[in-house]
Amino acid sequence: MSQKLAVDGGSKVRSTPFPSRGLIGPEERAAALAMFDQAIATGNAFGYGGPAEQQYEKDFAAYLGGGFADAVNSGSNAVYCALGALQIDALSEVIVPPITDPGGIMPVALLGLVPVVADADPRTYNTSAEQIAPLITERTRAIVVAHIAGDALDMDPILALAKKHNLYVVEDCAQAHGTTYKGRMAGTLGDIAAFSTMFGKHHCTGGQGGVVFTRNETLHWQGKRFADRGKPFNLTNAGGNVVAGLNCNLNDLSAVIGSAQVAKLPRIIGNRVRIGNAIRDGLAANAAVTVGWQVPESQSCYWFLRMAFHPEAVRVDKATFCQALAAEGIPATVAYRAIPAEYPWFRERRVFGASGFPWTCSDYKGPREPQAHIANALRVVETHFNIAMHESYGDQEIADIIEAVRKVSEAYAR
Ligand SMILES: Cc1ncc(COP(=O)(O)O)c(C=O)c1O
Repeated sequence: MSQKLAVDGGSKVRSTPFPSRGLIGPEERAAALAMFDQAIATGNAFGYGGPAEQQYEKDFAAYLGGGFADAVNSGSNAVYCALGALQIDALSEVIVPPITDPGGIMPVALLGLVPVVADADPRTYNTSAEQIAPLITERTRAIVVAHIAGDALDMDPILALAKKHNLYVVEDCAQAHGTTYKGRMAGTLGDIAAFSTMFGKHHCTGGQGGVVFTRNETLHWQGKRFADRGKPFNLTNAGGNVVAGLNCNLNDLSAVIGSAQVAKLPRIIGNRVRIGNAIRDGLAANAAVTVGWQVPESQSCYWFLRMAFHPEAVRVDKATFCQALAAEGIPATVAYRAIPAEYPWFRERRVFGASGFPWTCSDYKGPREPQAHIANALRVVETHFNIAMHESYGDQEIADIIEAVRKVSEAYAR
């Protein structure tokens, strides 16, 4: 007989709160205080782009196996500057992901480029070459992909498609610090990548931050100039600022926090991989809920656990199942409805006042209405839910999540 569920008055699988992350520690404190000490001793405030920021950029690039990093002040601006680095003509189309943070897509439109939303692979929150291919037109210049939840996309077919059509690939790795695909790090696969380092990510630079990463030196300098009002970095006799851009710089205080965090990143990712894989394996034979399908030869860094709900195995809907799971003390969220194409700004083309630009521009020869293919994305969101997780979970948390999912699945089994 199945156990009485907590939602029905039974005892909870987990009655104590899950542990906090403990992401910031004495290392970050010491690094920040040293910056203050130095500022007080010299009489000069800390700034940006100094040795501390350069060190963080080196540290993060080294973590990715070498390349060029430019630290910026948010993940959204990392996407903005990665796209800015490409110097794409206005009104070009950029294929964008179906399920992502708005900050992963809005920069496209703000650059006067037309975002075209590709659908999801039916098994994941991410898109795939199959979904992207039919959307490529003579106006397409780039593809932005996002490794959502830390789950890798199947990149090789996307890179082949991009090569065939001469398109740039921008990887949005906001949720994928340390994800691997066929042994290669996410962020090193496309032409250029954007990371968010806000406080909830695998590693942070304080409250907000981001990194533009590329192994292409030309793109690196173009991105760096764009991220700082077009300053002529690495150019001689440029005659002044060379391109219009905003000030998206990080700062040296955030950078020292970032360096302390990068030192912790291998442990953070190692723990997350161990925890996520243990839960995945522990639920592999469960009929109602499993950890969502992942691309072969990839390793998620698990920003959260994307759980696949199999309605044919239970008598209740996903919302009821998640409610029961939450009552057992498990941090379950019923839906990850991060579908920017559903939001008013996109549907109503609210980018440049009421003009409808770029879609309505007479020089743009594509569809006047925003294009979004999200049928699979909607289905994936309907058939999946999230369980929050992080690197400070231990064996007890792993066991509790597996046990609670098993208990609820059994109680509601058909
Ligand atoms: C996939 C993705 N892209 C972009 C962003 C934007 O990053 P930020 O919040 O640092 O601006 C996020 C934020 O969570 C994200 O998850």
